[in-house]
Amino acid sequence: MFKEDSIIGVVGSGAMGSGIAQVAATAGHPTIIYDTNTAALDKAKANLSNSLNKLVEKQKITADKAADILALTTYSSSIQDFKSCDLIIEAIVENIDVKQSVFKELESITSDTCVLASNTSSLSITSIASACNNPEKVIGIHFFNPATLMPLVEIIPGVATDMVIANHCQALINSWGKVTVMAKDTPGFIVNRVARPFYSEALRIYDEQLADMATIDWAMKEFGCFKMGPFELMDLIGHDVNYVVTETVWKQFYYDPRFKPSLTQKRLLEAKFLGKKSGRGFYDYREGTSLPEPTRDEALAKYIVNRVLCMLINEASDTKYLGIASATDIDLAMTKGVNYPKGLLKWADEIGVAQVLSTLNDLYEEYQEDRYRACIVLKQMVKQGKSFY
Ligand SMILES: NC(=O)c1ccc[n+]([C@@H]2O[C@H](COP(=O)([O-])OP(=O)(O)OC[C@H]3O[C@@H](n4cnc5c(N)ncnc54)[C@H](O)[C@@H]3O)[C@@H](O)[C@H]2O)c1
Repeated sequence: MFKEDSIIGVVGSGAMGSGIAQVAATAGHPTIIYDTNTAALDKAKANLSNSLNKLVEKQKITADKAADILALTTYSSSIQDFKSCDLIIEAIVENIDVKQSVFKELESITSDTCVLASNTSSLSITSIASACNNPEKVIGIHFFNPATLMPLVEIIPGVATDMVIANHCQALINSWGKVTVMAKDTPGFIVNRVARPFYSEALRIYDEQLADMATIDWAMKEFGCFKMGPFELMDLIGHDVNYVVTETVWKQFYYDPRFKPSLTQKRLLEAKFLGKKSGRGFYDYREGTSLPEPTRDEALAKYIVNRVLCMLINEASDTKYLGIASATDIDLAMTKGVNYPKGLLKWADEIGVAQVLSTLNDLYEEYQEDRYRACIVLKQMVKQGKSFY
């Protein structure tokens, strides 16, 4: 279906669109980037040159390769230039009405065989596709930020998507050197769903004043082997993005208490303490300030890691149980999409599924909150003496 010289269109030249276009052109495809904002196009053009120059300086690519990538990339402020595209990946504002109207227009100007993909993080692919006459050629192709560096791409067929097209898309993105996983069209897909407890359970522990944020971050790094702690990561992502994803996933799951956001994080957003980019978030990054020291209490740290980890495993178990993705894809997604030190289901096998279930049951017993209900699959596995792998 796709060939080495298939023409790739990218709608939106912001953070994600410009990265996706660079990946496509690097793979040798003629690539067209379209944006309604010409200043954004100019910025993307300058960024691509800078990024390629750096890669040449670091000897990651040759000067000839950089010249090829530049020659393959064109910029346009007219959607009509997408007429001969074979695949178009949309990466514009996260708004269902705007996306639906763009997909409608894309379908009207492209050939019947052109595949239309969305890079949406939180909207339903099925709903975007419903704006088209041929929803079977609409799919989710979800890159992670920065698209040039993060290996993971989630492939999300909507309810009406033709699985032959989905398989071709997966093969194409694999050929671009990415690691792909297939996920059902459900809120947050794999990564943005399974990762929620990393933030929310840490916030809950903090809100309950069981530990301060520096201690929780230290515990998750020192004993959980995560590259960053939850609070420093939320500050890096920005609360305008991280809080909004949490709230969107919670609402889309019909307000399931498992996904309930934290008021503490909402207040930070309201105060415009967005994190590192605004100088203040959970931590204060302004000049002259220093970061707080953790309380190096090993027993407390182990309690924190075990509690957050078991909640993450519970979410990963539910994602497998509901057929959203396979165990292998869930583990790949969390290691390649958000750099977790281990796949969560492999981790569950190492800890012992019975041990994970016992932690969750203890939490449920203590709090009597639906948030801590254990996934049925964990109970069944313990009864049957099974493991994930
Ligand atoms: N930023 C991330 O970390 C991230 C990660 C994965 C997925 N996403 C998703 O990718 C998409 C884009 O996110 P982003 O961070 O790159 O946004 P961004 O704000 O950096 O860029 C969006 C670009 O789209 C352009 N645009 C808006 N409406 C348009 C239209 N109707 N036609 C053409 N161009 C239009 C804007 O001018 C802007 O340049 C969103 O759906 C987002 O959920 C973002």
